[in-house]
Amino acid sequence: MGGFDYNIVLIGFMGTGKSTVSEYLSARFAMRTVEMDQVIAEREKMSIPEIFAVHGEEYFRDLETGLLVEMQSHKNTVISCGGGAALREKNVVQMKKNGKVVLLTASPETVYERVKNSEGRPVLDGRKNVKGILELMEQRRDRYEAAADIVVNTDNKTVPQVCEELVQRLMEMEE
Ligand code: S3P
Repeated sequence: MGGFDYNIVLIGFMGTGKSTVSEYLSARFAMRTVEMDQVIAEREKMSIPEIFAVHGEEYFRDLETGLLVEMQSHKNTVISCGGGAALREKNVVQMKKNGKVVLLTASPETVYERVKNSEGRPVLDGRKNVKGILELMEQRRDRYEAAADIVVNTDNKTVPQVCEELVQRLMEMEE
């Protein structure tokens, strides 16, 4: 397979598997990957929580927009977005210009299991429990769904299963 002539933009709540799926797709289909949070942190020479604390969320979201514009000159790349990137209309416009936007979903219970031992997610401070996650998820749901070309649920599926489904659905869209 010769790869994709567009980029795959992965969006979704924290802990829905964006980074893991991105790594798998990259290995399986020889795609490049861009982990947006990681690139931003490297460029700023600060961790994500530090960027939030020092410059504020708005500044961080502007960096996301800039990176999404930059990526439009690439193809066959999986762009794994930070969980908040798709909440901004401006970012969604730039995502669409990259290729296909794929929303990964998971239940609050699954997300909790996946994030419970991780630091570095400032938006979960003070609500890192199933109820807090559910509330934030509900607040964000409409915006995530509006941004997505396809939606893939990840509950009780292996990473290869999620990726097969994802690629299958993208192929169907092209037919
Ligand atoms: C955020 C999600 C994080 C990171 C930042 C903000 C969010 O990314 O971008 O902490 O608002 O949902 P992950 O989804 O990779 O954890």
